[in-house]
Amino acid sequence: MGADSLTVTDNRTGRTYELPISDGTVRAMDLRQIKVDEDEFGMLAYDPAFTNTAACRSAVTYIDGDAGVLEHRGYSIEQLCERSRFLEVAYLLIFGELPTGPQLDRWVFDITHHTFVHEDLKEFFKGFRYDAHPMGMLLAGVGALSTFYPDAKKVEDHEERYMAAVRLIAKMPTLAAFSYRHNRGLPYVYADNDLNFAENFLSMMFKKTEVKYDPDPRLARALDVLFILHADHEQNCSTSAVRGVGSSGVDPYSAVAAGVAALYGPLHGGANEAVLRMLRRIESVDNIPGFLEQVKDRDEKLMGFGHRVYKNYDPRARIIQQHMEEVFEATEYNPLVEIARELEKRALDDEYFTSRKLYPNVDYYSGIIYEALEIPADMFTVIFAIPRTAGWVAQWMEMMDDPEQKISRPRQVYTGERERRYMPVAEREGPEKIVGPPAKRPKRPRRGA
Ligand code: CMC
Repeated sequence: MGADSLTVTDNRTGRTYELPISDGTVRAMDLRQIKVDEDEFGMLAYDPAFTNTAACRSAVTYIDGDAGVLEHRGYSIEQLCERSRFLEVAYLLIFGELPTGPQLDRWVFDITHHTFVHEDLKEFFKGFRYDAHPMGMLLAGVGALSTFYPDAKKVEDHEERYMAAVRLIAKMPTLAAFSYRHNRGLPYVYADNDLNFAENFLSMMFKKTEVKYDPDPRLARALDVLFILHADHEQNCSTSAVRGVGSSGVDPYSAVAAGVAALYGPLHGGANEAVLRMLRRIESVDNIPGFLEQVKDRDEKLMGFGHRVYKNYDPRARIIQQHMEEVFEATEYNPLVEIARELEKRALDDEYFTSRKLYPNVDYYSGIIYEALEIPADMFTVIFAIPRTAGWVAQWMEMMDDPEQKISRPRQVYTGERERRYMPVAEREGPEKIVGPPAKRPKRPRRGA
């Protein structure tokens, strides 16, 4: 064995094993040969939450967390935000190359002409309670899409895959806008094919009685940049959910619904809302020193700071800041921005944060922009799901074509009992405490009845 290997000595047996190293990894399956007895199962890698396990090889997104670098298919996020539009980035993520002129025209045409949803899906949305959370509606809506396109089950058929990619990216904004308008009791607005992707979303959200909605180009551009920034972020919780569920061979709508469900969780898609709540609580720049002391005493968390992967300034946070001024030229000024900027400055001057490599992440400023766009807080995660659909689809397709992938099925370390003798219920003994909800008391007869 050459130098690219790891020598492991099992001190239980004194035996030595050579594990090949490839791309800085050893294969967990190579551990299986390590055993004390021949009839033993063999050694497993134990990694709850997959904090140090690569589950796939991927060529979609590169992150260097220490250097604060994010690239899609080799293009820096800075270049993409400056020079591309979201749909071009979606094409890049899915097909691996920036589109040529004719390829881009066809792609944009296809997405633009698949933004409508079946009228029955509109009826389906009408069935939700008036105050249903928009993310719950989106989740159900995306899952329901699979029932309208049963041919999407042919996951090996490349034409079906293309159509599912187009439909998912095209219809996600429509479902998102429906969920917003449902909460307000407003009529659903159909897509306007004269508008670009971001403009059309603003139209489906905010159009009232005017014949044609005329979006402010500065706001549409800022939204498009936010879409690019959220398009993909390699093997995060929701993307892993899409890959895991998709590995069963289910149709891509159902796999993406799993991604929406994962994104719904506050630890994944919901931090920007928490940032706004925090800034409101701080209330004024004068209260910042006191707030930072509370953070250091661990009574508070500086929301929008810190990241599992980035140990440097999140490049997405820097780009959002650049677009903030542009947004405030077109909207009412949000005074929270002053608190946010001063809070960032003071935190970055403070040893507590610098020594822990805590910098602003993508969520620190995005909520402020969404609020300026008059998007309510419970829609923030829904808006995250719109562009992330492109990343989910790209990662799903990559997984489908990866010959090393199989149905995803982690192992466990079993910690429970074994080989117990079954006791009839009358013979079972145990604590008095009843597990489960308290038994319902019989209703008292109504007075006079
Ligand atoms: N405020 C104060 N202290 C913090 C913060 C924070 N926001 N984040 C981390 N720390 C401290 C933490 O207490 C720990 O200190 P010590 O070593 O003294 O115990 C140290 O920094 C390391 O933190 P950690 O919890 O081990 O880091 P993690 O990688 O497990 O957590 C995180 C990452 C994002 C969950 C965390 O930084 C956090 O909760 N941040 C606030 C929430 C937030 O903004 N989330 C959005 C993340 S970006 C979303 C995306 O990319 O999609």
